[in-house]
Amino acid sequence: MKVHFIGAGPGAPDLLTLRGRDLIAAAPVCLYAGSLVPKAVLGHCPDGARIVNTAPMDLDAIMAEIRAARDAGHDVARLHSGDMSVWSAMGEQIRRLEAEGIAYTVTPGVPAFSAAAAALGAELTLPGIAQSVVLTRTPGRASSMPEGETLEAFAATGATLAIHLSVQNLGAVVGDLVPHYGADCPVAVVYRASWPDERIVRATLGTIEDEMGEGITRTALILVGPALAAEDFTESRLYAADYDRRYRPQDAASPWAGWQDDTGGAHG
Ligand SMILES: C[S@@+](CC[C@H](N)C(=O)[O-])C[C@H]1O[C@@H](n2cnc3c(N)ncnc32)[C@H](O)[C@@H]1O
Repeated sequence: MKVHFIGAGPGAPDLLTLRGRDLIAAAPVCLYAGSLVPKAVLGHCPDGARIVNTAPMDLDAIMAEIRAARDAGHDVARLHSGDMSVWSAMGEQIRRLEAEGIAYTVTPGVPAFSAAAAALGAELTLPGIAQSVVLTRTPGRASSMPEGETLEAFAATGATLAIHLSVQNLGAVVGDLVPHYGADCPVAVVYRASWPDERIVRATLGTIEDEMGEGITRTALILVGPALAAEDFTESRLYAADYDRRYRPQDAASPWAGWQDDTGGAHG
């Protein structure tokens, strides 16, 4: 018996890994974080599976479900939104599993920030504009921020910011960022990226609060930084005609000349 932690992706049921889908389809028990994992994803569960929404449960109750599955010899698919590596509460569950000797696996998922960037058609690391993406949040009712991890500190780097769990604090976010990025800096708020009711609001730090309108109070990502609207950026050296690199050597005598991958396609 194992508990399979599976990144359920940003919402669309076809934005799961094949491994994640297959593990869900094989598990007689599915525990899902119902505040963010939509019911559509549960369509991958097998007929007759025990499907439990853990949103209203505490950690002890979740562990009781897992122990009951273990006693029955049933694998558990444990679904959290996006990827498990950020804001999934997987860490505390793994600590309990290890204490009780229950085996587990972890399958990554598509994180919300990359689904939001895809919805925008945006590369967050444009050459010469931004080469770092900061995944962060503002403090919430249940979580304070460690000292030093302030929006101002991250903003001072000029990196692209992907601010989670914070759309309800938009005014404070804008107030912290304008001194560093300027009121003209592009911002996008992406609500429920990949859901059927996905919404995108594009604006600048100076106008975003007026542009927001009604209704977006949660499940939205705030992306901020000059990369979001830059057109005047340098092309990467990766595809430059004169760039000598392993997979596209300029020197015909290079051992990599003409090298192709196993599928016959030249690496690009
Ligand atoms: C508890 S965190 C979960 C993050 C998740 N583990 C991930 O990999 O993206 C929830 C926050 O992620 C963001 N989020 C999750 N799903 C989203 C989606 N489909 N569209 C936009 N933002 C999303 C929102 O900022 C939301 O408040």
